[in-house]
Amino acid sequence: MSLYEKFTEQAQKAIGYAQDEAVRLGASAVDTEHLLLGLVSDVTNSASRLLHELGVSPSRVHAEVRYQLEQATKRRVDEGQVTPRARRALELAYDEARLLGREDIDTEHVLLGLLREGNSMACRVLESLQVNLERARAAVRPSRREATSAPIPVPLRHNPAIAGLRGRDLLSIEDLSSEECSALLQLAADVKKATRAGEELVRWRRPHLLAMVFEKPSLRTRFTFEAAMVHLGGHAIYLSPSEIGLGKRESVPDVARNLERWCQVVMARVFSHQTLVELAQNAQVPVINALSDLEHPCQALADFQTLIEHRGDPEGKHLVFVGDGNNVANSLMLLSAKLGTHFTIACPPGYEPDARITARAREIASDTGSEITITHDPVEAVRTADAIYTDVWASMGQEHEAQQRRQVFLPYQVNAELMKKAQPSAMVMHCLPAHRGEEITDEVIDGPQSVVFDQAENRMHAQKAVLAALVGDW
Ligand code: CP
Ligand code: NVA
Repeated sequence: MSLYEKFTEQAQKAIGYAQDEAVRLGASAVDTEHLLLGLVSDVTNSASRLLHELGVSPSRVHAEVRYQLEQATKRRVDEGQVTPRARRALELAYDEARLLGREDIDTEHVLLGLLREGNSMACRVLESLQVNLERARAAVRPSRREATSAPIPVPLRHNPAIAGLRGRDLLSIEDLSSEECSALLQLAADVKKATRAGEELVRWRRPHLLAMVFEKPSLRTRFTFEAAMVHLGGHAIYLSPSEIGLGKRESVPDVARNLERWCQVVMARVFSHQTLVELAQNAQVPVINALSDLEHPCQALADFQTLIEHRGDPEGKHLVFVGDGNNVANSLMLLSAKLGTHFTIACPPGYEPDARITARAREIASDTGSEITITHDPVEAVRTADAIYTDVWASMGQEHEAQQRRQVFLPYQVNAELMKKAQPSAMVMHCLPAHRGEEITDEVIDGPQSVVFDQAENRMHAQKAVLAALVGDW
């Protein structure tokens, strides 16, 4: 199939008009300005509609082309019917159409091709009318979405690190390579930008279902997974702690074997990490850890997305966790090691992170150049911190230890006094929910260094990236 045959009827018509314009203007070949005039010859096509949305009328395009032609002194040297520059713009139009998940090329793609080619008269005309590639791309997507329900799978299909995650479980940060962690974080950042612009960067072709299995309560995890599924074109079904009775009413393998028949992905928040392992072993569909006694990988991904937003490349940065060596600390330590971030935990003796995970993090760190430090001195730990992170002293399931832990952890409170020992630029992080007045004071969590609600927002974007990557239908 030739390139020309890939153009829609409207686009072929516009190219025909472009030829007429070239003849009318005495040109020996169709150049980009003729293509642009061809696009605006029909006010009903998608390029004209897009330009209209951007405040540009056909008469303004004509006037601007006339002006630019008067200014131009260039001679045409091309012999073919279409100049190489115009040909390149048409090829770029094809590329833009493909990036948007389209097999054919419509007039709006030709417009994008003209802008992408740059350095041409058409591009100068459009730029003087305040239409640049970024604005045009942003405007083209919503109208394209109305026209077709096909997904916009650009970053997934073209990124081998993301494509390789398809069908896999995410029980631990250990399940991801350093490259996959970085790719997911980049995708999460792209997803956030698109979500905020009202676009959908990734969307499944068919509706998908997520089973959300909860043995413990949740605000952020439940809401953000459900929101992410809606954004991706799917639906989430919440199964409350009392509903399933994992391992009591029904065995974990049997629950897995049921769920896999109904849904494309399972997430579970459990007491014992082993429950997740069993779910994953018995379900053909991907299983995602939504918090276990050992890890909280989705939290760690959202936290690093936040760290990167505020501090750039995580490599060589210093993340200091002050408090209990719990599930959140374990995942942060592993992700730090994967990304070359130095990680220090300041905890009371006896509350260090899991020994196997620490050993594994140190092994990974020896490859990435990160340093993993365990100390009992919070004051010393925070001095060189780029980010100071804390979490509750008693995690869900440890409520019976809460009172005793309050005594042990008191010197580890993140308060104004501790913050004075850190750099004034150090960020304050917390996965939430916070026990204000215990592990963190109001003054600090509500203070200018706190990014806790950015972390909460990023749960949604990071999980959307995870769901899109694991459950590939693009
Ligand atoms: N941070 C976090 O996982 O919050 P929830 O317990 O509310 O889900
Ligand atoms: N460590 C805490 C995290 C809550 C999101 C817990 O497990 O309860």
